[in-house]
Amino acid sequence: MAAAFVACPPAAGIATRRLAAAAPAPDRPYKGGGAAAAAGQPPLPTHSSLRSTGKGSEWAAYGPNTKVIKGGHHPEEWSTDPLGRSVVNPPVYHASTVTFPNVAALRYAASDWPFTGMWYGRHGNPTTWALEEAFATIEGGDNACVTGSGVAAVNAALLAFLETGDHVLMTDAVYDPSRGFCDKFLGRFGVETTYYSPTSSVEEVAALFRDNTKVLFVESPASLSFEVMDVPALATMAHAKGAKVIIDNTWGPMFLQPFDLGVDVSINAATKYIGGHSDLMLGLIATTRECYRAVKSSVAELGCPPGSDDCYLALRGLRTLGVRLRAHEVAGYTLARWLEARPEVARIMHPGLESHPQHELWKAQFSGACGLFGLQLVAGFPQAALDEMLDGMKLFSMGFSWGGYESLILQNAINSARSVKYWEYGGELGQTLRIHAGLEDAEDLLADLEAGFARLHAATARIAAEERAAAEASTTAATSET
Ligand SMILES: Cc1ncc(COP(=O)(O)O)c(C=O)c1O
Repeated sequence: MAAAFVACPPAAGIATRRLAAAAPAPDRPYKGGGAAAAAGQPPLPTHSSLRSTGKGSEWAAYGPNTKVIKGGHHPEEWSTDPLGRSVVNPPVYHASTVTFPNVAALRYAASDWPFTGMWYGRHGNPTTWALEEAFATIEGGDNACVTGSGVAAVNAALLAFLETGDHVLMTDAVYDPSRGFCDKFLGRFGVETTYYSPTSSVEEVAALFRDNTKVLFVESPASLSFEVMDVPALATMAHAKGAKVIIDNTWGPMFLQPFDLGVDVSINAATKYIGGHSDLMLGLIATTRECYRAVKSSVAELGCPPGSDDCYLALRGLRTLGVRLRAHEVAGYTLARWLEARPEVARIMHPGLESHPQHELWKAQFSGACGLFGLQLVAGFPQAALDEMLDGMKLFSMGFSWGGYESLILQNAINSARSVKYWEYGGELGQTLRIHAGLEDAEDLLADLEAGFARLHAATARIAAEERAAAEASTTAATSET
């Protein structure tokens, strides 16, 4: 929507108070600002929804826990109290319609939507901006966008950089619905996807690039099989070939600083650790300054906003992310080390353990581990026995979305979603399971697992006895017939 530039007059309200207070940002390429400058008019003011957060943030030099607390925290803007008293958290703005006090304010908003602050409910309000700014601050990105789910964040980020005729390189261990989006959706619009093995060398991935490769998508560690990728080396290589690098960093918020490693866009399914309580669906996309406009436009055009209540809950969860993650980490190591010593377990897939094939690579990139890891049983347990083990768990629930306070256990089929090559952990072994270590007492969780293994053995022995009895019965029947 084209509109002539008219400087926005100060008016009452949070957004305009921020407008009046903010300094102009000459390095931001506003359409409206450029047009205004060309017309010899003053530049548009910076709106807080465009405020630089990551490298340029006043919190950039602070520790990760301080960033979690201070990112996007603007109590001075969340109150209309004349004495400046304030609440600690942002109000929840329930908004579809945004009203404008005069034509000048409307024209200002229209001059470069959705980059001029409040314009229409779909594009954000002070509650969503607080969450976006907090996330960009902890990721070290320049800015961020929120979407209605993690899947929506992945899809919007991909669509920001792709058009018909383009090519994407995607890790073969990617979260399965992201694969579905590439195969079932992008393919229909003439965008081709090639999957690379998550353990490919940088040279092997480089060899898959084409002239039209626009995006290299990485997920590290993979959320079922936990392979770790050499993100900085891949990013350097992809940039030399002119592609953008998008990472799904859902496993490692706070522990992996994606922009220090050279990625352009970092996604987090905030449904998981950021929300932290298994009660909301949300996605977040942090970007470099260069990529922000493309990603925000993609999110705006796709129209996949979250509700403000969910943004509020996610922001509330985010403020305790540091302590929760450390507790999940300790519980995860406790369970993983205990499981690693069990005779029923063939291998643990936890990148923080020395036994993990890419442990050194992980150490070089991550400052910690969350509570999600995998394991593979030794061969020989009947499926029905494993079902009995899982059915009887007292503290571990079966469920897909991890990152909440509760412990989870889930059998999976890692190879079924792969297209490149056979899974390197050894498909000839037993069943694979994924565990999310929650915030219960670790001794109780271990006791629950121990009782589960006892059920597994008892059921295995009973099934073997039943099979022996059935075989003997059929032999006896066959003998008596002859
Ligand atoms: C690694 C990863 N990325 C993205 C998603 C998608 O997030 P959501 O469930 O919020 O759509 C998930 C969900 O399980 C995930 O595990």
